[in-house]
Amino acid sequence: MIDHNTIQKIIDTAEITEVVQDYINLKKRGVNYLGLCPFHNEKTPSFTVSPAKGIYKCFGCGKGGNSVNFIMEHEHLGYPEALKYLAKKYNIEVVEKELTAEEIQQQNERDSLLVVTKYANTYFQEKLHKNNDGRAIGLSYFKERGFRDDTINKFELGYSLDVKDAFTTAAKENGYKIDFLEKTGLTIVNENGKYDRFRGRVMFPIHGLSGNVIGFGGRILKKDVKAAKYVNSPESDIYHKSRVLYGMFHAKKSITQLDKCYLVEGYTDVISMHQSGIENVVASSGTSLTVDQIRLIKRFTPNVTIIYDGDAAGIKASLRGIDLVLEQGLNVRVLLLPEGEDPDSFAKSKSSSEYIDFIEKNEEDFITFKTRLLFNESKNNPVKKANLISDIVRSIAVIPETIIRTVYIKECSTILGISEKILYGEINKIRRKNFEKDYKRNISPEDNFISASPPVPSFVDDIYSEAQEKEIIRLLLLYSDKVLYTYQEDKYDEPRDVTVAEYTIGEILNDDLEFKNLVYKQIFQEYLNVVNSGESLDNKHFIYHQDPKISKLAADLLSSSYTLSKIFEKGGAHVATEDMKIKQMVPETIIAYKRKILEIAQSDAKEKLKEVDDKKISNDEVNKLQKEFMQITSVINDISKERGWVVFK
Ligand code: CTP
Ligand code: MN
Repeated sequence: MIDHNTIQKIIDTAEITEVVQDYINLKKRGVNYLGLCPFHNEKTPSFTVSPAKGIYKCFGCGKGGNSVNFIMEHEHLGYPEALKYLAKKYNIEVVEKELTAEEIQQQNERDSLLVVTKYANTYFQEKLHKNNDGRAIGLSYFKERGFRDDTINKFELGYSLDVKDAFTTAAKENGYKIDFLEKTGLTIVNENGKYDRFRGRVMFPIHGLSGNVIGFGGRILKKDVKAAKYVNSPESDIYHKSRVLYGMFHAKKSITQLDKCYLVEGYTDVISMHQSGIENVVASSGTSLTVDQIRLIKRFTPNVTIIYDGDAAGIKASLRGIDLVLEQGLNVRVLLLPEGEDPDSFAKSKSSSEYIDFIEKNEEDFITFKTRLLFNESKNNPVKKANLISDIVRSIAVIPETIIRTVYIKECSTILGISEKILYGEINKIRRKNFEKDYKRNISPEDNFISASPPVPSFVDDIYSEAQEKEIIRLLLLYSDKVLYTYQEDKYDEPRDVTVAEYTIGEILNDDLEFKNLVYKQIFQEYLNVVNSGESLDNKHFIYHQDPKISKLAADLLSSSYTLSKIFEKGGAHVATEDMKIKQMVPETIIAYKRKILEIAQSDAKEKLKEVDDKKISNDEVNKLQKEFMQITSVINDISKERGWVVFK
């Protein structure tokens, strides 16, 4: 157990923005800092850090806490482990009370696996530097490749002896349980016995984001053997290949500082580039990129340059994969190295400034690169050219930002010699198809506005429904910037993202409704002003509003622990993602509001009709009341039958 004073010291020292900034980019916004939430996927930042309060809070996914909580959440660590992690960061000596046998047992499995990989990492390094074979075979190999001592040490490179079970035996002798050795994949257990996965290979440890060793890659040195060039750790509780990028631990600081990330293929590419002074580089380890890996990069920067070997046959095969990157909203550039060079060899023949200079002069925007590459091949072949166009168009169509799409369309139109209008037409077809897949109901281009429900008749006014008004305001505060659907007015128009704020305002104004609670009305009005000027409004605007009634309400609504609408929960539907939740919750809340108003109007009308006998009301008046009553009832029926309204999927 960690001593109480040590805990206090750690908490006092670990400044929240410093801790968070190791992982994500923060920008100052007033007294707070804002960034993209590392705990859920988002395009507009809602992750807020308050240095004054020492806390973080994401207004998108709701996660929040202090610096220790952040490390626990982010690194998947327990409380004591998170404290130790921070102690290490700040060079605080951890005074520990003796652990009881029971406590040792309680250490969770993950930690045990990390302890094993840590031991293995030390073991392999020791063999590289101290063992005769290690030095003669492993170390001399690295030296031949031109790796300096400081580089070898920085990346903690090692060597595994060419012996059946040298590592496993040593680990067992040092008290490491075979169970954990097997679970990390370092030891293979089968009917022939227990033996080392890595034998006679130089070892590349793979680090997690916080520097723990989570797996290994081992490169074979003999040329004639049929064995695979690299053997890698298998998936385990601590190593998920699809979520890891080799080198990220060593690169993250530089990526953040330079706001740019280079993506290469191999371990040795990363290491050589570091050695030549370029540190913002990670490797996909030979596999095609996964969405998780892209999101990992995006936490640190939106700018990626993929470096390809000059003669890589794999470029074309990898092109489709890059659409995934574009889809996540990253800016992708491509650098083609000269014939016969790879990132590793090129780093050796150039100084870092020459390398960077070469990159800056030669890197090309991905879409332009792809267009040119395919265009050269298809120049005189109309069929190929047609395929090329649909291929390029597919890449452009997945880019989320309208403005960036527009720029690409212009550029490709020039390169391909095809009119922008045709490209727009094709792109819109694809975008339309993509989002129609997502919606229950087809959206007809004639619809001026996608309404969730039939309109509330204009004679229904002056009705106050506190709970519903409040719920709408709460959703605005929480999600105003989130995209609800994409709307395309005309075939040749660019589809436009409609946010929760725009949609809600549209629903309210279209039916000439008005909030009766003046505080809600004021908040609504402020959203309206901002949306009309094409901007968005951070909910901190309301939290720190000069009108104390508004700031208090905003704080109340935003801090309430429930984020699921009561109205929504009643449906009992299973909610998979926040996005889905919003797409259902927002229209349903609007519908609930309208229904409530209509029901009140209906009972008012009923009352009035009952009084017809007592009072002297003209026939015309009675007719009018009856007509209104019927109209209200019919709209309520429509809503109840779930006819005429959209729930975005
Ligand atoms: N890789 C792998 N298994 C293989 C081959 C490759 O896991 N059998 C992965 C490794 O992560 C490797 C990357 O793919 O780093 C790129 O492969 P390659 O270019 O062949 O390896 P390099 O790292 O460049 O190694 P070297 O320069 O020593 O050939
Ligand atoms: Mn290589």
